[in-house]
Amino acid sequence: MDAVFEATVTAPVNIAVIKYWGKRDAALILPTNSSLSVTLSQDHLRTRTSIRASPAFVTDRLWLNGEEEAVSASKRLVNAITTARSLRAELERRQRQQQQGNVVPLSEWPLHICSENNFPTAAGLASSASGYAALVSALGALFELPQSASELSRVARVGSGSACRSMFGGFVAWQAGAADDGSDSLAVQVAGHQHWPELQALILVVSDQKKKISSTTGMQTTVETSELFAERVRTVVPKRMAAMQRAIADRDFASFAKITMQDSNQFHAVCLDTYPPIAYMNDASRSIADLVHAFNTALGRPAAAYTYDAGPNAVIYALEGDMRDLVELVTYCFPRPEDTTPEAFYPDPFGLLASPAC
Ligand code: DP6
Repeated sequence: MDAVFEATVTAPVNIAVIKYWGKRDAALILPTNSSLSVTLSQDHLRTRTSIRASPAFVTDRLWLNGEEEAVSASKRLVNAITTARSLRAELERRQRQQQQGNVVPLSEWPLHICSENNFPTAAGLASSASGYAALVSALGALFELPQSASELSRVARVGSGSACRSMFGGFVAWQAGAADDGSDSLAVQVAGHQHWPELQALILVVSDQKKKISSTTGMQTTVETSELFAERVRTVVPKRMAAMQRAIADRDFASFAKITMQDSNQFHAVCLDTYPPIAYMNDASRSIADLVHAFNTALGRPAAAYTYDAGPNAVIYALEGDMRDLVELVTYCFPRPEDTTPEAFYPDPFGLLASPAC
């Protein structure tokens, strides 16, 4: 019987609080600026990927949420697999040089990859980030690669930029780096999730439609046409990266919230400054942002912070002690059609119902 080697891993979704938007090298996926994200719990959002290698397989094959997709159709997928294979080939060469017993030539065997998300792929919830992080972690485990998670994040990065940050839990920075070969463009963990366990994220799915302009296309047009963008990269992001890392180290929610909302707003301003303009947020997204500001004003302190990626869906960060009130308010102001008379269940805790946000 032919040998089969297998590895299964899971990887989380991350949501940026300092946004990555713009590439200085599109082939290697090198960003124009550093970024920083919070990794979400895998209980709710994660990709699980299993990979098998066998000399009996004919070619590389991939199943995404049960449907087969052609590996060769995605250059990024091919790049990520090829890079991981070359790390394995290097390891096998070293093992042979050191004459270490029976070296298994995994780098030469075709792979069968099976990947599934426990959330709707089209819901605009960063599925490429957890997807490529899971792929690379599974390849690392299967190939028994000695590289650290930061080193492997460079491989995830060639699949999708934001994926490099999903190689870690907690709070993660993607350092833009300066080298032309991308060797210093990698993710590092700023703090583990235990550092600030009270921080929670609420995801509001405004639309589960696929976005009209992909991040990849949108950010390239921004780099080419927006003058505001150049200013963001040069002066704003470096300042915010430092301030955000301080806010996280000090568990300072007021600063964390302000920088998160300001950076989301600037990212969307830069999208509008792109020509032709890109509008990812819609009326519902803007109403949610207004509601968060109204909530903070009513409480007299920053208790919640919104952020939006390349789509209309909102992610709201809040501390555990405020999350229940926030959920009640959001449910009241944006009742789902299937909820009957939410007023019956949710009183108006902050007297906000007359506010324009509702
Ligand atoms: C708005 O990582 O999806 O979510 O590198 O081209 O695959 P590619 O882009 P992608 O862009 C994510 C953009 C963002 C901001 C962020 O996650 O930092």
